[in-house]
Amino acid sequence: MSVILLGGTPGTGKTMVAKILGSKLSIEVISLSELAEKSGCISAEDKARKTGIINEDCLVDALLTLTEDKTKTLVLEGHYIDLVPNSSVQWVFILRTHPEKLRDRLTERAYTNNKVSENVEAEVLGVCQLDALDAFGETKVHEIDTSELSAPQTAALIASLMKESPDPERIDWLALLEKEGRVDDFLSD
Ligand SMILES: Nc1ncnc2c1ncn2[C@@H]1O[C@H](COP(=O)(O)OP(=O)(O)OP(=O)(O)O)[C@@H](O)[C@H]1O
Ligand SMILES: [Mg+2]
Repeated sequence: MSVILLGGTPGTGKTMVAKILGSKLSIEVISLSELAEKSGCISAEDKARKTGIINEDCLVDALLTLTEDKTKTLVLEGHYIDLVPNSSVQWVFILRTHPEKLRDRLTERAYTNNKVSENVEAEVLGVCQLDALDAFGETKVHEIDTSELSAPQTAALIASLMKESPDPERIDWLALLEKEGRVDDFLSD
C-alpha cells in the first residue's frame, strides 16, 4: 500500500482537495472519519452528540486491514492521520491556512466562538504539522500554504510536488504573527 495523506486543521480544505486530487490521479479517496464510522469505531453516544470521539485502537486495526494490500495506492484524508502505519505512507501533505482566513471560514460554518478560537489556535501553533512530523519524519511531511489558493490549485500543487520531490516547506504562523505584533489577536493565554 502506498498512501498519500492529507491532514490539517478543520476548515483547511482536506476533504475538497482530496476529492479533486483523487480524481486527477485516478486514486481512491477515503475519509478517515468515514472509515472510523464504517468500522464501528465511533460510539453511539458520541454520534448522538455529534462530537465523534473515536476509539483509536479500533481505527488503528481498521487501518492495518485497509493497508494490507501492498499493490494499491490510496488518498486518506482527515484527522487522525498519525494513526496510519508509517511503513505504508509515501507522502504527507499538511494543508495550512493563514489564521485570519481560517477564522473567517470557520465562523461561516456556524461553529461556536470557542470552537473557532480553539481551531485557529491549533493552526497558529501548527499542531497538525508537529503531530505529522512526529509520526512520519521531516522528509515525508510537506506543508502547503493554501491561503491564496483555490482547492483545485492546491490539488494541482500537490500533484506537481509528487513529481518533483522538492525539499519540504515549513510554515510558521506564530513567527509571522510575532513579527507583525499580532499574536494576541489569535491566541488566548
Ligand atoms: N483552498 C480553498 N480556498 C477557499 N475555500 C476553501 C478552500 N478549501 C476549502 N475551502 C472552503 O472551506 C470549507 C472547508 O473545506 P473542507 O470541508 O474541505 O475542509 P476540511 O479540512 O475537510 O474540514 P474538516 O476537518 O472539518 O473536515 C469548504 O466549505 C470550502 O468551501
Ligand atoms: Mg473534511
